[in-house]
Amino acid sequence: MIITFATQKGGTGKTTLAIAFANYVSGHSKRRINVYDFDDQKSFYYKWTEDEVLEIPKLYEVTIVKNGNEEQLFKDFEELIDLKESDDLNVFDLAGALDANYSDLLIYSDFIVIPFEYSDISVKSTLVFVNFLGLLESQADRIFIRSKYDKGYKYLNQAAMDTEIMRYGFLVNSPVYKRNCLQTIDTRSLTYEQKYAVKNTFNELIEYINKTINIEL
Ligand SMILES: Nc1ncnc2c1ncn2[C@@H]1O[C@H](COP(=O)(O)OP(=O)(O)O)[C@@H](O)[C@H]1O
Ligand SMILES: [Mg+2]
Repeated sequence: MIITFATQKGGTGKTTLAIAFANYVSGHSKRRINVYDFDDQKSFYYKWTEDEVLEIPKLYEVTIVKNGNEEQLFKDFEELIDLKESDDLNVFDLAGALDANYSDLLIYSDFIVIPFEYSDISVKSTLVFVNFLGLLESQADRIFIRSKYDKGYKYLNQAAMDTEIMRYGFLVNSPVYKRNCLQTIDTRSLTYEQKYAVKNTFNELIEYINKTINIEL
């Protein structure tokens, strides 16, 4: 299966959540996890390479997907379908851009996880992104996660935004709060604090995935 972390805006926490999710699931699931870094900046991949010095066993392999040249992962369409039909958990981390190279992946992902914040700009780009998915006629199930959520802040547009978002997919009830511990995440482990920061959100996410496609992740 394919789970893709994507949205149009950079800095919303895609890579952080993708790392945290891959780490979290590897502690809970017997499935093999493969991560694909589809962002030109390759932050997930570089982090994973740097974490070599930690001398902690790898939880998963991370592969770079090259954009727009013949070395592209999906030389033919079959490869993408193989990933989709595999029992492995294939996690994709995307850049914050509406890139035509992403079209096939966005169409054929089983789930697209979309982190968002309640700033005006994030709200707008989230809706632009969802509209883009609509134009692609992507059948992927959309899951929205409130990212970098500030507990002490009163988000005036939250109720209206939530109503709008729920028209397009599943909104995870528990936010991922803004936490310093998530800024130092590595690809080999989750500290107790980091696990605590994501567990309610990811448990809900996993429960939703399991229920939707009738599997045990
Ligand atoms: N929940 C969070 N709490 C605090 N900082 C966060 C959180 N999520 C992400 N960040 C920080 O925000 C910045 C952007 O996050 P990143 O995951 O790289 O976003 P994206 O991949 O969408 O561009 C990074 O500096 C990251 O450490
Ligand atoms: Mg990123």
